[in-house]
Amino acid sequence: MVYTEVNETRRSRRNPLLISLCVVFMAIVILSVTLGLTLGRSSSGSLKATFTNRCQTYLKDNGGTTSQNDCEKIWESFKKAFVGRNPCDVPPEAYDSLLDTVSQDPACNRMLFWSKTKDIVHAFTEKSSCYLTLEDTLLGFTLDGLTWCGKNQSQETFTTGCPEWSDCVNNPVRSFWNGASAAFAATACGDASVMLNGSIDVPFNPTSIFASVEVKNFNSSIMNGLTVLLVTKETDTKTCGTDASLKDLQKQLDPKLKYTCKVVTQSTIQNCISQPQITCGDCW
Ligand SMILES: *[C@@H]1O[C@H](CO)[C@@H](O)[C@H](O)[C@H]1NC(C)=O
Ligand SMILES: *[C@@H]1O[C@H](CO)[C@@H](O)[C@H](O)[C@H]1NC(C)=O
Ligand SMILES: *[C@@H]1O[C@H](CO)[C@@H](O)[C@H](O)[C@H]1NC(C)=O
Repeated sequence: MVYTEVNETRRSRRNPLLISLCVVFMAIVILSVTLGLTLGRSSSGSLKATFTNRCQTYLKDNGGTTSQNDCEKIWESFKKAFVGRNPCDVPPEAYDSLLDTVSQDPACNRMLFWSKTKDIVHAFTEKSSCYLTLEDTLLGFTLDGLTWCGKNQSQETFTTGCPEWSDCVNNPVRSFWNGASAAFAATACGDASVMLNGSIDVPFNPTSIFASVEVKNFNSSIMNGLTVLLVTKETDTKTCGTDASLKDLQKQLDPKLKYTCKVVTQSTIQNCISQPQITCGDCW
């Protein structure tokens, strides 16, 4: 009896300590397993998760039109373009099959291009569906702002240690945007618009994707014209008529396309964005 009592007392005294030790130990085990998994597979794990999450979000928000697209399949097709390849050896054509699979209905008269005006353009397209930019399409939305690459003889996908935009021409990110921009521009139909930055020296810059890829892919048998919206601040003096780079744009544009240019101040666009209900066409 006495022995049991002593034993019980000891045991009950020891228990809280044992339990705390166990809890701490388990917490450490769980933490290190989680950390190990996240660190060890961060690149492929999180890129795939981000890709499929964004893809599903897009499909949910744009229900109907693209319901045949399955995000896991699109991910596999995306991966094929660059996995196992040297990260400076991925040409834009590597994405042809992806871009063919995820073809989207062209939005005639609503397509909006941009160069050096990304923030204001997307603030506007997020608020209204008057216009559609590349980043408002499934692949553009899914990959906007992401970095990715593969490595020779590896099946992994990486998000760090990838070439920068200017490191090599045929890097996986740059080639994707070049290929996707070319495909997007080639479907432009009716009247398209472009927002160019009137606060900088060269609004139509020959090295931009708009000048070097998109303008070259416009198809005058489906497109009527291009409207340049030159976005300025109140203090800017640039106009459609005086800017030299816009003359270059007119020269490069297929003569069958009607060219229009309008100066639009940032505050006009901002006012428009702040309207509770945007009426397309009334903004500028
Ligand atoms: C135009 O470019 C300048 C310099 O890069 C930038 O500060 C400004 O926000 C741009 N304007 C618009 C409307 O995006
Ligand atoms: C990629 O791996 C193959 C096979 O070992 C090799 O022949 C090739 O030179 C490698 N390419 C690069 C760019 O490292
Ligand atoms: C332009 O569009 C027409 C009509 O859709 C098409 O037949 C033609 O192949 C396109 N041209 C180019 C260069 O893609």
